[in-house]
Amino acid sequence: MEPNNKIFLTRDWHEEAVNYLCDKKYQVITWKNITPPTESEIINKLKDCVAIISEFNDKITNNIINAAPNLKVISNRAVGYENIDLKIAKERNILVGNTPGVLVETCADFTMALLLNIARNITYSNRDVLKGKWQSFYQLPYLGFDIYNKNLGIIGLGQIGTAFAKRAINGFNMKTYYWSRNRKLDIENEIGINWIDNINDLVSNCEYISIHCASTPETHHIIGKEQFALMKNVKLINTSRGPTLDQDSLIDAIDSGNIYAAALDVTDPEPPDYKSKIIHHPKILITPHLGSGSSETFKKMAMMAAENIANALEGKKMVSQVKL
Ligand code: DGY
Repeated sequence: MEPNNKIFLTRDWHEEAVNYLCDKKYQVITWKNITPPTESEIINKLKDCVAIISEFNDKITNNIINAAPNLKVISNRAVGYENIDLKIAKERNILVGNTPGVLVETCADFTMALLLNIARNITYSNRDVLKGKWQSFYQLPYLGFDIYNKNLGIIGLGQIGTAFAKRAINGFNMKTYYWSRNRKLDIENEIGINWIDNINDLVSNCEYISIHCASTPETHHIIGKEQFALMKNVKLINTSRGPTLDQDSLIDAIDSGNIYAAALDVTDPEPPDYKSKIIHHPKILITPHLGSGSSETFKKMAMMAAENIANALEGKKMVSQVKL
């Protein structure tokens, strides 16, 4: 087999994408273990490959890229790509792809599910049911908060933040505000969301807050102690990336009443340390990075990652190419 035909997939989950690439006569090597490959395992598999399909938590490092002389395409099966060393990819003229768009509605649905869950104590009360504590009709320990007509603050108005805002505005009549690096007048006019030009003003005025920004040095701990101190009884959702939130200060913020409950689909690190307090806190709901995880979207993202590779290798326009 010609070395320029080999593609490495860091998981063995994407049969349709593999079939698609095999039909195009590529040789696809998949990583068979459930545990993701380490840096040295990726180096070993990728050394004579032309392309890789990676997941958001595979760190595609300088070492990996340097050890793969034939590498032409890095295709992340994710919208985020902070796991890839873009500087070295650019130096080597390697094309980088990602999978935005197809996951937007799925992630927005999930964010709404988390909001409803923590506002109305769904998982919180279910934990008691599982312990046999439902012995009579007694709602008091589980009284949550209304959602309809309440104030919602969105941090980062990209495609997912916007799709979530639409659900909140159209489905729940929420008065919805946002902070984003750039003001988005067209979206404001289209969906009826309001701009607040400073995060601290946003968090002081909203009972619900949802984080949707990308993880960059500027957004590291964009919600931290200073913002927690300004909040009152907030229901907080993070489906972006763990480092956007100062997780260590979260428990204090709950204990002092600034936060009522938090739903974290992303943590820092992932998975969290099982001995850490956030895992066991009854008012923190943690899900295992499931935002894009519907059966349909899982497949669509894998197919898009495969198409990105085929298009790039065949000299066509990638479905979504990351600007380097
Ligand atoms: C993404 O696409 O970046 C998700 O977080 C991984 O599914």
